[in-house]
Amino acid sequence: MSDTDIGFVTFGDSGLHSSELQFGTWRFGRETAEGNLEIGEERAYELLDAYADAGGRYIDTADVYGGGDSERWIGNWLGERDRERYTVASKLYWQIRDGDPNSRGTNRKNIRHRVEASLERLDTDYLDVLYLHRWDEETPTRETMKTLNALVEEGKIHYLGASTYRPNGWRVAKANAIARAEGWEPFTVLQPRYNLVDREIEGEYLEMARNEGLAVCPWSPLGQGFLTGKYDREEGLTGESRASESTSFEESYLTEENFDAHDVLDAVAEEVDASPAQVALAWQLHRDGITAPIVGARTVEQLEENVAAVDIDLTEEQVERLTEAKGGPFAEL
Ligand SMILES: NC(=O)c1ccc[n+]([C@@H]2O[C@H](COP(=O)([O-])OP(=O)(O)OC[C@H]3O[C@@H](n4cnc5c(N)ncnc54)[C@H](OP(=O)(O)O)[C@@H]3O)[C@@H](O)[C@H]2O)c1
Repeated sequence: MSDTDIGFVTFGDSGLHSSELQFGTWRFGRETAEGNLEIGEERAYELLDAYADAGGRYIDTADVYGGGDSERWIGNWLGERDRERYTVASKLYWQIRDGDPNSRGTNRKNIRHRVEASLERLDTDYLDVLYLHRWDEETPTRETMKTLNALVEEGKIHYLGASTYRPNGWRVAKANAIARAEGWEPFTVLQPRYNLVDREIEGEYLEMARNEGLAVCPWSPLGQGFLTGKYDREEGLTGESRASESTSFEESYLTEENFDAHDVLDAVAEEVDASPAQVALAWQLHRDGITAPIVGARTVEQLEENVAAVDIDLTEEQVERLTEAKGGPFAEL
């Protein structure tokens, strides 16, 4: 039995409550460069059990994760539990059939087909949250919002989200303005990348989120494992990792500037007797404007370490030092 008790937070301006730490399943069924699975089926169930045991109730997936296996395994797992107790978010966007441009993006045909396929894999009647995985610049925003609104009215989706790589807040603000003018469902939540060393959403994007009453649920809150203390400035990786087996990881994360920020993280971690991963998550939990980070883990041990972040108290001074660790001061959230 876990000692951790993950609590609930309000989900933007909606009436929904989200777990303060959401669980991400990107790596369920994901093949590494060597053809191994980062997380296989049995491990996936163990991780979901561990998250639920710690009080976690919000599961993040996408239709393309593990070629559909992430949704399938979550569906199997939920089949043994009370579906109503869990909030499940999925996503759509990426092309799924070679040579077929209609199988990509947020056109009406693709959205309708993809939502049905997700519901079938998850073996459920509704998605609590559907995210657009990326912004589709080819489909008119009205077409996308009208289609999504119809799905909300049909009860197949409860809340809408936008997950974008680069901050492009104006697109979301424009889509919400159209939706509100037409009496359609607007976006409720954003899912951007955000962590101690990836800070591009600070400023205009978070200001837009606050203005629109949007929940903000960051992905890669541990910088894909960089912020866990297992990378060394000189030696590189010192522990085990599957997540870092991509070429871009090294370029994005293993930089002098990031290791300088990690030094501050290590110092605070020592002061509060916690691990760097726990403090990196606790920093987000203390940050105004951030609703709930989506944490990932490859092993149950990692997950148990990470969820204990909800019990860590940081002083205002510690939060400020962490905030300014990478080139600060940054804009107020
Ligand atoms: N919307 C989007 O476009 C988008 C993009 C990316 C992710 N996401 C969502 O966000 C979730 C989280 O993303 P992420 O996996 O990048 O998150 P993350 O929490 O930054 O990184 C998770 C990885 O870090 C390592 N790790 C985690 N805890 C650790 C610990 N205590 N000690 C040592 N290593 C640890 C593990 O990889 P190794 O052990 O292999 O190093 C783990 O798989 C995803 O599952 C997905 O749901 C969304």
